[in-house]
Order: sequence, then structure tokens, then C-alpha cells
Amino acid sequence: MLDNYQRDINYLRISITDRCNLRCRYCIPKEGLSLIGHDDILRYEEILRVVRIAVSLGVAKVRITGGEPLVRRGVVPFVAALKSVPGIEDLSLTTNGVLLERCAADLFEAGVRRINVSLDSLNSDKYLQITRGGCLDDVLRGIASVYAQGFSPIKINVVAINGFNDDEILDFARLTLDNPYQVRFIELMPLGHPGRDNLGKYLASEIIMRTIAGKYTLNPVNGEREKMDGPAKMYRIAGGMGEIGFISPVSHHFCHRCNRLRLTADGNLRACLLSDEEIDLKTPLRTGCTDDLLETLIKEAIAGKPRKHEVQFDEQSLRKCVKNMSAIGG
Ligand code: GTP
Ligand code: 5AD
Ligand code: SF4
Repeated sequence: MLDNYQRDINYLRISITDRCNLRCRYCIPKEGLSLIGHDDILRYEEILRVVRIAVSLGVAKVRITGGEPLVRRGVVPFVAALKSVPGIEDLSLTTNGVLLERCAADLFEAGVRRINVSLDSLNSDKYLQITRGGCLDDVLRGIASVYAQGFSPIKINVVAINGFNDDEILDFARLTLDNPYQVRFIELMPLGHPGRDNLGKYLASEIIMRTIAGKYTLNPVNGEREKMDGPAKMYRIAGGMGEIGFISPVSHHFCHRCNRLRLTADGNLRACLLSDEEIDLKTPLRTGCTDDLLETLIKEAIAGKPRKHEVQFDEQSLRKCVKNMSAIGG
């Protein structure tokens, strides 16, 4: 379905839980967050109902996110059920990788082929520090298992943080020399609860690119795949097996190409990551609404999608996007 700005809204990102087995410093405060109550989290069958209707309106691509989606009980059968919804052409999952080793085979069997793994440091002490307790080896083993299992593409998301992993840019880039991974650097957005702490720590893609280009020849990857790569601009080190991508929400806007809708863990449709305007689907779902009403609400969300976000990523605009990333799913 086209929105008011001729963007084809064909991609639904579903956060199935706001819970996470890590506490990344830029995402969750030290003391944790007040979590959504169990009863307020959308049930799998409710999500499936929304998905079926969204598909009838043109959604063909679905990504499961969290929090950490693999901590929610029953995620594998849920994924299998999603996969069997007619009209879903692409089913993917974003994870922190901690539980990936033990889930890889089941996820593959359930029909997932595309996995994005968040990984902000290749140094185990730093990884432990940024995640407040995570074990780098778990994630590396997780990535190795999905590779061995045959998942493709495997994308590694690196949130680039000044003063934290700016000294690891080349290490991450070198990962793509001998592995067919897509390593993507994401500019840190000051959002949600830790938002203020994140102010000023973002590292512009341009600087990262220059650092890599100082050492290797970076060639743009042909534009034909652009649609599938969402907001990332992709490059390849000459001769490398993998690719390097840049997601630059702070230094550039990519809203004109945005094809996304989000379903939050507490059952709201969110038309823009950076706007707290949401449409409640949970209440109608739980009070016996018709499919027609759900369809109308999804259309309403699409019609209300802003042309672009108005967040300047400064102190003042932090108030415009208060909901935490862990309940939206990135
Ligand atoms: P695919 O292209 O399907 O692989 O998805 P993706 O790259 O969007 O998925 P992923 O979950 O790996 O998202 C990467 C990160 O990019 C997100 O968590 C956000 O930090 C950022 N991002 C993704 N979509 C948007 C968006 O619509 N707006 C903004 N500002 N940032 C986004
Ligand atoms: N800015 C940029 N990316 C973020 N992510 C989480 N919080 C932020 C933020 N404030 C990333 C995660 C993960 C993806 C789902 O979103 O690291 O890769
Ligand atoms: Fe889409 Fe909003 Fe992200 Fe812009 S900020 S790309 S409109 S989700």
C-alpha cells in the first residue's frame, strides 16, 4: 500500500518482547526499565492476526525484533507460523546473538534465512562493559553457527560510538575480508531512556568510511539490491568476501525511502521509529473487533506516516521520542 508520499509500505517490523538478556548502555539504563506486563504483551495469535491483515494490504517483508526476540518462549513455532502466512516473501530476525548458537538449527528449520546480529565490540572486555555482562564468545559462536547452518545474508550491526569502539573500525572492516558477512555501522541515535547519555557520542558514517578508505579500497556495491538493504549504503573492500554498510540516521535522512511500519511489543502500530505517535491495536484485538476494523487501523497508521521525522537528535528533540528502543525493536 502506498502512503501519502508514494512510499510503498511493504515491511513490518514486529517487536515480540521488550525483555532482553543484555543491558546495552546506550539502550537500557543500569537499573533496568519498567517492563511491559506479561498481559500487555501481544500474544502470538494476536500478532499473527495483525500480520495476515497487513499482508492483505501489501506487507511482504517481516522482521522479528525485541528486546531480544530469542528470550521469548515459543519464538520458534511462532516464526514457523509466520512463515506459513501466504504472502510473506521475506522473514528475518534481529538478535543480540547470545542465544543464537542453540537456536540456529531450529530457526533455519522454521524458515528464517536472514539474520541480523548486534555486536558493538570485538574485544571481550569491552563487549562485557557495553552490554553490562555479555559474553563475546557466545555471540561469536552464534554467528559461526548461523553461517554453518546456511543463513544468508548475515548482517552484523555495529552501533558506532565515539570513545568506545572508534578504535575498532578497522577490526570490524577486516571481518569482511574472509567472511561473507555484511558489517554495518549504525550512527548512534540519542533515543529513549539513555538518550541524553548518548548525546554527542555518535560517530558520523563519513568518518568511519574515511578511516576504512585510508587503508583499503572501498567500492560501492551495485545499487540494484538497494531495496533489500533498507537504509544501509553498502560497500565492499576490493577482494573481500563480505560487505561493509553504513546506516546514517543522524547525519542523513533516509525517510524518503522508508517502507516500514512497526508493531511494538505492547501492541501498537508505529508508523515512524522517531515519532511516539502510535495506534493501539491491542484494545480492539481484545474486545472482539472485526478484521475490517483492524484493516482500517492499519490503513490509518500508513496514512499518518510522516513524510520525514522531525527529530534533530538534540536535547530538546529528545522529548519527541520517549519510548525506549527495546520496546520498539529498532
Ligand atoms: P534489513 O534491511 O531488512 O536487513 O533491516 P534493517 O537493516 O532495517 O534491520 P535492523 O534491525 O538490523 O536495523 C538496523 C538499525 O538501523 C535499526 O535498529 C536502527 O538503529 C536503524 N534503523 C532501521 N530502520 C530505521 C528507520 O526507519 N529509521 C531510522 N532512523 N533508523 C532506522
Ligand atoms: N541508535 C542506533 N542504533 C541502536 N540500536 C539500539 N539502540 C540504538 C540507538 N540508540 C540498534 C541495536 C541493534 C538494532 C536493533 O538497533 O544495536 O543492532
Ligand atoms: Fe522511516 Fe521514521 Fe526512520 Fe524516517 S525516521 S526512515 S520515517 S521510520
